[in-house]
Amino acid sequence: MSIRPLVILPDSQLRLVSSPVGEITADVRRLVDDMFETMYDAPGIGLAAIQVGVPLRVVTIDVSRDEDGRAPQVFINPEILKVSDEVSTYEEGCLSIPEYFEEVERPSRVTVRYRDLSGETKEVDADGILATCLQHEIDHLNGILFIDHISKLKRDRVVRKFTKQARDRAKGVA
Ligand code: NI
Repeated sequence: MSIRPLVILPDSQLRLVSSPVGEITADVRRLVDDMFETMYDAPGIGLAAIQVGVPLRVVTIDVSRDEDGRAPQVFINPEILKVSDEVSTYEEGCLSIPEYFEEVERPSRVTVRYRDLSGETKEVDADGILATCLQHEIDHLNGILFIDHISKLKRDRVVRKFTKQARDRAKGVA
């Protein structure tokens, strides 16, 4: 297992639409292992493969926030089947937009169909933080970021800030 470098805003890879996983190969398993290691190291509660530069429909989540009682969950080719009319607001963040947090409103409950690592098709009815996290990560697979759900004013401001940071890093200023 290894920690892979995170893709950071405004990297255009974050706007790619990821491809479905076919057969679950050793490479896919290695990707999942590395995604968990990268996610726990960050630390974060969810990660999409594109955030480590792999445009495949793979999501890792652990909303337990408990180092002793980890509850890793893998979602391969996840698809939202149903969303509730009721909405919830959570303060979201993203490992690709470090140290930026903003409130986002999303459906409170979702039904998601996915494949697990053994290739079996499953469905989950999620609510609470898991519902929000699944929607956030599935957005990533479609090239959508949580800042797309906030006001244009706030989004423009954060994109400008990260664009400047990337420029400064490239110049070796920061
Ligand atoms: Ni994210």
